[in-house]
Amino acid sequence: MKIQSIRGVKDILPGDIEKWQWVEEIARNVFSKYGFKEIRLPIFEKTALFSKSIGETTDIVEKEMYTFTDRSDEQITLRPEGTASVVRAYIEHKMYNPPSVVKLYYMGPMFRYERPQAGRFRQFYQIGIEAMGTDNPAVDVEVMTLLIEFFRELGLMELELQINSLGCAECRPKYRETLKDAIRAHLDDLCQNCNQRYERNPLRVLDCKVERDREIAKELPKTKDHLCEPCQTNFKQVQNLLDTTGTPYSLNSLLVRGLDYYSRTTFEVVSTGLGAQNAICGGGRYDSLVEEFEGPPTPCFGFALGMERLISVIPFGKEVDLESRPDIFVVSLGDEAKEPTFKLIHDLRKEGFSVDQDYAGGSMKSQMRKANKSAARFSLIVGENELKSGKYLLKDMETGSQQELPANDLPKAVREQLANS
Ligand code: HAM
Repeated sequence: MKIQSIRGVKDILPGDIEKWQWVEEIARNVFSKYGFKEIRLPIFEKTALFSKSIGETTDIVEKEMYTFTDRSDEQITLRPEGTASVVRAYIEHKMYNPPSVVKLYYMGPMFRYERPQAGRFRQFYQIGIEAMGTDNPAVDVEVMTLLIEFFRELGLMELELQINSLGCAECRPKYRETLKDAIRAHLDDLCQNCNQRYERNPLRVLDCKVERDREIAKELPKTKDHLCEPCQTNFKQVQNLLDTTGTPYSLNSLLVRGLDYYSRTTFEVVSTGLGAQNAICGGGRYDSLVEEFEGPPTPCFGFALGMERLISVIPFGKEVDLESRPDIFVVSLGDEAKEPTFKLIHDLRKEGFSVDQDYAGGSMKSQMRKANKSAARFSLIVGENELKSGKYLLKDMETGSQQELPANDLPKAVREQLANS
């Protein structure tokens, strides 16, 4: 029986995984400079956690969650995002004690039953950050500049940071009504999806991807013109601080995001090179989510980026070694050499070298061919003569130079030559 992977789900193979590891390592370095610590979260949670936080009327909750009933009749969902789990963990572990700003990051797979296409998968990976416990706009900007620094370290320059403010519990309900009134006149011209959104989630009409709807959306009332005074001041502060750091950004008043928990600042980073699925990263402020889950008042700000989309736009160069090559390839000749070879390889690995061999054995010629193919820096020959003399032939595969060395001297010689190359 031949079984293939599920639609929209990908393996990440050696040759590619090195890129992922490199990106993850840079993320860890940059994030720790800003005081963020890793949190590992469960892959599945109770369904209610996601439906309540992301919003019952969002596409994710309505159509995209992988939900099932487990053997104890519990409704379980494979996580479609990480923020809800971070909030749950924050409350469950009372991370608000003692009061401080808790800075967390996570990396891992998320699951959404979307229509697979370029840049859109059913299992995809996110790296996310959540700063919890302050509504200071400095944190909004600190997190966005962290992101920009991270992208620069990856060699990405051609990205655009777009920001918007969605207002708060005070001004958004009024704006929502104003928006609905304005949309009503266009219902016949808007797509079927927007007609449905109009009643339940009218803000989503603003970021519909249908061309004709986009033209209509441009003329609809904008959140930025309907913010209450504190929200206006807050949004101004965010922009001033972004200016202070010299971070380029643009205002996008159609940016509303697909999850309901946001208030005030929202943002996305888009790449012009990505086509329809151009958002590499999205996030914003969510000031009431912790309270909605019965935690203490805890304003938060965070983002998540899509690894597949990010990796697809990075101009990978020599800094990523895509072919992890062994230091030494051991060529073993004859049955008698098998055991000493096994021991020698074991000892060399203990010395810290990466060592490989041709498990099938075979002629010297065929093993040397394998050594060449492995791109090993050195080959080491262990045969009858070598076993008798106790000296092994170490060949530098780049220069072709050879040395006869006793086993004890091998680590030092290899280390020195690796350091000089
Ligand atoms: P999101 O915009 O739903 O936000 O997802 C963040 C990023 O995940 C997107 O910008 C995109 O790069 C990637 N992504 C989403 N869906 C897919 C997919 N089907 N295939 C490939 N990549 C995808 C969130 O998830 C929020 N939790 C972000 C956040 C954190 N807000 C505050 N804190």
